[in-house]
Amino acid sequence: MCGIVGYIGKSSAVDVLLDGLTSLEYRGYDSAGIAINVDGHVDLYKAKGKLQNLKLIVDKSREHIERSTIGIGHIRWATHGAPTTVNAHPHSCNCGRVAVVHNGIIETYKELREKLESEGCNFRSQTDTETVAHLVASKFAQTQDLTEAVRLATLEIEGAYALCVIHQDVKNTIVATRRNAPLIIGIGQGEHYVASDVPAIIQYTKKALYLDDNQIATLTPDTLDIIDINNNPVVQKVEVLPWEPVALSKMGYKHYMLKEIHEQPDVVRNVLSGKLKAIDEQINLSEVTLDREKIRGLNRIQIVACGTSLHAAMVGKYLIEQFCEIAVDVEASSEYIYRKTITDENTLVIGVSQSGETADTITAVRLAKKKGSHILIVTNRPDSTMAREADSLVPVNAGIEVSVAATKSFMAQLLSFYLLAIYMAEIKGLMKKEELEKIKHELIVLPQKLEEILTNTEDIKACARKFSSFKDFVFIARGINFPTALEGALKLKEISYINATGYSAGELKHGPIAMLDETMPVLAILMSGTVYEKILSNAEEAKARNARMIAITDSTDEKLGNIFECIIRVPHIDELLSPIAAIIPLQLLAYYIAEFLGKDVDQPRNLAKSVTVE
Ligand code: F6R
Repeated sequence: MCGIVGYIGKSSAVDVLLDGLTSLEYRGYDSAGIAINVDGHVDLYKAKGKLQNLKLIVDKSREHIERSTIGIGHIRWATHGAPTTVNAHPHSCNCGRVAVVHNGIIETYKELREKLESEGCNFRSQTDTETVAHLVASKFAQTQDLTEAVRLATLEIEGAYALCVIHQDVKNTIVATRRNAPLIIGIGQGEHYVASDVPAIIQYTKKALYLDDNQIATLTPDTLDIIDINNNPVVQKVEVLPWEPVALSKMGYKHYMLKEIHEQPDVVRNVLSGKLKAIDEQINLSEVTLDREKIRGLNRIQIVACGTSLHAAMVGKYLIEQFCEIAVDVEASSEYIYRKTITDENTLVIGVSQSGETADTITAVRLAKKKGSHILIVTNRPDSTMAREADSLVPVNAGIEVSVAATKSFMAQLLSFYLLAIYMAEIKGLMKKEELEKIKHELIVLPQKLEEILTNTEDIKACARKFSSFKDFVFIARGINFPTALEGALKLKEISYINATGYSAGELKHGPIAMLDETMPVLAILMSGTVYEKILSNAEEAKARNARMIAITDSTDEKLGNIFECIIRVPHIDELLSPIAAIIPLQLLAYYIAEFLGKDVDQPRNLAKSVTVE
């Protein structure tokens, strides 16, 4: 949440900053700003709302600022203080010489603010970040050394931060530091870049290093010095980023979300590639370093994740318990970290995260690591903080996901859990050869089935049109598709702002059924298998309360028309793989409803793609 970028070198800084912020927009988009040192004066440009508003403001002064070759920028997802221009970063001190951009939360900002105010600092914003600007200014007044001022300031602040600081009197320097928030430094020819994430710098350089917690980097065009918090010099490994500049193109689709939904058959192919070669060959997960003996001896697994990743984890629990007979607990990372968890060296802890930067999940896996557990991370970002914490890493290979609502990364996470569960089952020798071959065959033919769903979307569009004016929805399912119901409801909430709740269908009659009438549609995920008949009766119960009924099903039963007003059919699929087929119509339904309602599909209000605060 929040993206920061900095540039110092020989080119004009302003476009590097604005381009960088454009590629960090997934991290937040409620306001943005840049600070540029022009002719020895730090100028701030800020705007409320989307980045485009900042660009319009900058354009008015372009001639003046274009000659500057040093600057920092920020795109905000508000935590402290409303998304206003005053609260937008960069923040400054009384005299305006310092400019600071920050991603994270300064937990001690209230005490710090009181202290700084008592020393004469005048605060303009409601943000926690402004304390850093005043603190650095006060330390600079004592030391006349920007790096030392930042170092001394970080000794006094608690919380999570990635910070970039410039000072008017130190014309050719950016100082950057981090603690529990990502920060990368790009190295060019006579220029340096700093950013929250790779896409902001990759079009300029592939040479980069990742700062570790509590390290402080001092950047000039030609030099890069790093120290630790105790002032000892540090040498960080320079890496070549395994990235190609990403053409952020919608490829003719109206929104990234729609493009990413349509990419899912290829995502399945990518995830399976090299790992599942043939039905009679064992799954190859070379990234899992937990040895075979340990896997055989495991009697407990904990999976921690948030949001959509949590729903993938819930399917993972079902699969691992089914295939491997190992007890699995799944918990929202934000809950896991605030209770006494029974975790030890005999527990495998799996963290699931698209971004690999979700603060709650990072804290959860670090806690488990301290207790001696093997940490396996399932992530779409093998270069992320979480990946760096991993003992075993399962990269999900979904490719860059731009739309804030996760779709193809969920698909890739699901696939990773199928592979992991089969991999462990093969090691444990629990499943029959025929059973394993059947599942593997189904996985191999999956992309064609998904393509079939994606080429027949008329029923989904019609259903979306019919139901787009409803204010509340209930999604029901059982068994392995209960998480699918939660995920379908989450997608609808996120991008259309319609209240949608996923229930286990059997729970409906224990309370929620009281809400049902003709104003609250019920969507049933009715996939063939062990719970089909049960869900059907739960759907009949809802219908009897006048609820308007929608089904996602692989059944061809004509009689379903007696219960359901809209029937969205998917190709028949084995029950164990049914979440993969059922989720696509749910993603598309959410998409088309939001589209009909004219919502900002790719950047829904109040959300950000990377949640780096707890
Ligand atoms: C929903 C969504 C969020 C994320 C959640 C965790 O569409 O994207 O619910 O799934 O914030 O993020 P990651 O997976 O990056 O840890």
